[in-house]
Amino acid sequence: MTTTTIEPKPMTTDEPLILTETDGHVAIIRINRPKVLNALNPALMTMMAEQMEAYDRDDDIYVIVLAGSERAFAAGADIADMAEQSTISMYKRDQFATWERIKKIKKPIVAAVSGFALGGGCELMMHCDVIICSETAQIGQPEINLGVMPGAGGTQRLTRAVGKALAMDVILTGRFLSAQEALDHGLVSRVVPPEHFFTEAMQVAKEMAKKGPIALRLAKEGVLKAHEMSLSEGLEYERKLFYTLFATEDQKEGMRAFVEKRKPEFKGK
Ligand code: CAA
Repeated sequence: MTTTTIEPKPMTTDEPLILTETDGHVAIIRINRPKVLNALNPALMTMMAEQMEAYDRDDDIYVIVLAGSERAFAAGADIADMAEQSTISMYKRDQFATWERIKKIKKPIVAAVSGFALGGGCELMMHCDVIICSETAQIGQPEINLGVMPGAGGTQRLTRAVGKALAMDVILTGRFLSAQEALDHGLVSRVVPPEHFFTEAMQVAKEMAKKGPIALRLAKEGVLKAHEMSLSEGLEYERKLFYTLFATEDQKEGMRAFVEKRKPEFKGK
């Protein structure tokens, strides 16, 4: 496993804000602000978006794993950073433009979530595609306790994931969901014992990395469209993505390998 770090922007901290590694076709990004439970400030979010875009362009990377620490995936946007902001300054700095960049990442992102995933942390988790969660996870949108409300998609994505009744409960009371509740309501993909949350996320990512990378990307695109289109439009869209895959070498390889009773060797072509 190779390890590299991205140097922080000078004004923020001396610690690297994110740590990166690659393992075969899997890239790992770890949020690294342990003293503030991985609170997400604009410099960190910009660095994360830049790194994800770099992996999205890298033909050797098929899947991205996004992890926090065992204690916190991320306890939200950095409250100290926002405390003295005004409407105009928030509007001008347009911090959510960075989140739009993460939304546009085409390769699958697996979240490895343990401990707190709150506010922006929960919203970041919901930007990911497969969410592997430790039994210890505490998930919520507690912005209401700060006199504000979710701003990075919480009212929309949480509601689509768990339905109106539970989303209202979580967003209006600020209460945290347990990992099991989150699983029961379809917010996360799997729940595992705390010692396995990262290894399970890696296993899932490596399993996905055995598939054809173009098929992975288009399948992700198809599922995400289900949140944005009517059923008929979504079905049309899916069909076009499906037909597109018949232009790839990977489709020929995958189907021939099945017929010839051997394992496929996908090349991303
Ligand atoms: N921003 C900045 N600092 C934070 C932080 C955050 N979101 N969350 C935790 N920290 C800091 C604490 O200030 C504390 O720093 P000090 O040691 O310097 O005092 C350190 O992390 C450890 O936190 P606690 O001592 O509070 O740890 P705890 O175990 O007692 O409590 C917690 C943990 C329940 C997560 C609590 O820290 C907490 O409530 N954090 C804030 C959660 C929150 O409100 N998140 C939403 C932020 S707003 C947002 O995200 C907007 C959006 O939609 C984009």
